[in-house]
Amino acid sequence: MKRVVIQFGGTGDLALKKLYPAYDHLLGKGFDFSLIALGRRFKDKDEFIKNMAIDKCSQNFIDKVEYLYYDMQDEKSKGNLKEHLENQIRGSVDVELIYYLALQPSLYEEAIKQIKYVDSSISCKCRLNKKIVVEKPFGFDLESAKRYNEVLLKAFDEKEIYRVDHYLGKEFMQNLLILRFHNDIIRSIWNDRSIESIEIIFDETHGVDQRLGFYEKIGVVRDTIQNHILQIVTHLTMNEPASLSPEDIATEKVKVLKSIAPVSEFYTGRYESLGANSGTIVETPTYAALKLYVNTFYFADVPIYIRTGKMQKEAKSLIYIKFKNTTRKVMHDDSIKENGIIITIHPELTIDISVNLKEPDTSWKSKQVRFRFNQAETFGANTPEAYEQIVKKILQGDKSLFPSMREINEAWRIVEPMLSPETHLEVYPVKTLPKFALDMANKNNFSWFD
Ligand code: BG6
Repeated sequence: MKRVVIQFGGTGDLALKKLYPAYDHLLGKGFDFSLIALGRRFKDKDEFIKNMAIDKCSQNFIDKVEYLYYDMQDEKSKGNLKEHLENQIRGSVDVELIYYLALQPSLYEEAIKQIKYVDSSISCKCRLNKKIVVEKPFGFDLESAKRYNEVLLKAFDEKEIYRVDHYLGKEFMQNLLILRFHNDIIRSIWNDRSIESIEIIFDETHGVDQRLGFYEKIGVVRDTIQNHILQIVTHLTMNEPASLSPEDIATEKVKVLKSIAPVSEFYTGRYESLGANSGTIVETPTYAALKLYVNTFYFADVPIYIRTGKMQKEAKSLIYIKFKNTTRKVMHDDSIKENGIIITIHPELTIDISVNLKEPDTSWKSKQVRFRFNQAETFGANTPEAYEQIVKKILQGDKSLFPSMREINEAWRIVEPMLSPETHLEVYPVKTLPKFALDMANKNNFSWFD
């Protein structure tokens, strides 16, 4: 079968950093497809290869990639693309076209219309299948997400649509379900009778100045909370699905999202120098902290504290499940520490369970120690990157790692109060945790896991 990936946003940050390495690896593993990168930044393939550092990719990838100058404002572009595709697929019997949209959300509507034109006017004597892949954030808010989806459904069947949240391709996300549902000892403690609180920390050291054109209209809430963070919350709190099929998992995730109470405590800030390189300070949130509750029978009273954002001193992504510490009271010993499960995502994937054991040479004094699982040590360092897993699923036509539209809509509903432009933005110096994150912890009587 002749398969062609048509990369909208082919000169963007996402394509360069995540998608091209994923395509390159998959070609190396025997998947067969060619790629057309669409963009406005370069005039031809030579310039594209040189400037996009594609020369670091394998020769196989370089041979398979084409560059096509594509300006969405220019009426002629879609006709050129159609002709280019017709030339590529001429003589093939079975053809699959995969349109991949890695664009600013405000361009989606127009891009989908242009794809519809290209798709309906291509002529070939072949069996032609198509897929469309849309990156997160899908939409700009609830209303636009619904509108884009209507446009999408006029051109594609639901089974041809892949809405990407690459966190679903991460090993730790899939592991959360296995950890919770394949272990009796974990299952029986995973509820509000045992769990006191949950923290999700997602601190990144890099800024967004290099991709300000994209980020300034998006901000942290649309960039990571509406998608990655809420997906983590669903994986942490959903009930056991009837099966591990995509539909059954989606049903349980939607239940969680519908049960999330309106977020009443949230704070946002931006790092001091945001935009300074380009001469103008930009008022877009780059850090947020919030508290939310999932009002289901098993989690109703468990606060979930979240903090996420850019330009932090240390890259730190982890989930901390803090268990209630009744033992302290029973043993009349305030020094006994709580039990916890720590799932570390960055810098490497580990799962720790903290317990108390006797400190040698003491009389019944306990010390907190950890039992650790390390993904790389146990399974080797070759776990595929999230994007590789996602693209592989798209090529295979397997929809198990993609959020449904119902999830996306619910997620927009939850974050919408946080999108308001009037929200006060605290300005924080780079490499510093915004003050509101510490204030929120003090106010709620906890300290962020360190
Ligand atoms: C992307 C966001 O979706 O996820 C980025 O746009 C963020 O801002 C990135 O840095 C984090 O992904 P990962 O895979 O590096 O944890």
